[in-house]
Amino acid sequence: MTRYPFRSALVTGASSGIGESMAVLLGQAGVACVLVARRGDRLTEIADRYSNFEVLEADLTTDEGCARVVARIADPQHPIDLVVNNAGFGSSGLFHEIESARLDDEIALNIRALTRLSRAAIEVMVERKSGWLLNVSSVASFQPAPKLAVYAATKAYVTNLTESLHEEVRGTGVKVTALCPGLTRTEFQSVSNTSDYQTQFPEFLWCTSEEVARVGLEDVVKGKALSVPGALYKGLVGASSVLPGPLKRLVARLSLRAR
Ligand SMILES: NC(=O)c1ccc[n+]([C@@H]2O[C@H](COP(=O)([O-])OP(=O)(O)OC[C@H]3O[C@@H](n4cnc5c(N)ncnc54)[C@H](OP(=O)(O)O)[C@@H]3O)[C@@H](O)[C@H]2O)c1
Repeated sequence: MTRYPFRSALVTGASSGIGESMAVLLGQAGVACVLVARRGDRLTEIADRYSNFEVLEADLTTDEGCARVVARIADPQHPIDLVVNNAGFGSSGLFHEIESARLDDEIALNIRALTRLSRAAIEVMVERKSGWLLNVSSVASFQPAPKLAVYAATKAYVTNLTESLHEEVRGTGVKVTALCPGLTRTEFQSVSNTSDYQTQFPEFLWCTSEEVARVGLEDVVKGKALSVPGALYKGLVGASSVLPGPLKRLVARLSLRAR
């Protein structure tokens, strides 16, 4: 059984995919968890498997939902050692054809909620001189992504914010990590209208949510700034950090044409 240095955790987007896998890994290791998402029935079904799990049903695109999660993170009676900002979604399609309200929700969840919860977590963790913050970004944060433009832009924000915070809290006892998965089979594909990726991209490009969750938890414990699961994606992220902008756009153009 894996042993983690944290005794308690709060995971957003714990009702499916990567967040659910994190909750299971933490539960198996005896870490007390607060599970956050909109589908309370799914959270309860997971929480019932462990004696020390709590359910917090919240819509993180709303001020009210964010405020309740912020209050739970800041609760001095029941401190949270690890906060995982995992809830997120994308919108595939031409930018000007996607509903404006949907893009507002995407930005509210991927950026605004993550920023509020990160701020709340770091505030209490710096005070306690201990804590771990894991923000789930994406390999899409490192390059332009036509037909997934807003998603990639929100994740570029997440990676950049998280790397900045990683440096800002250096020496305080708090560890901050951006987890950047590549293609991972979850409900993301149906929610984000990218189900065709399942047939367009070869099997070797796909990770499981268990694999991604395990690597993310290991890397936040190690205090890494960036966590990229899978050797192939590590290579791609390394290459995209040295490619000049015009070449990155050419790669984006070619990958769009190949699909
Ligand atoms: N799958 C991939 O290929 C991939 C690749 C790179 C990065 N990621 C990132 O990984 C993270 C997890 O995604 P996933 O792949 O595990 O997808 P998923 O299976 O669709 O899980 C998304 C989670 O976010 C929650 N969520 C969605 N809207 C919410 C809202 N308004 N308020 C609160 N919770 C909300 C969902 O729960 P409810 O619907 O119950 O609210 C669900 O638990 C996301 O940030 C995603 O961008 C995924």
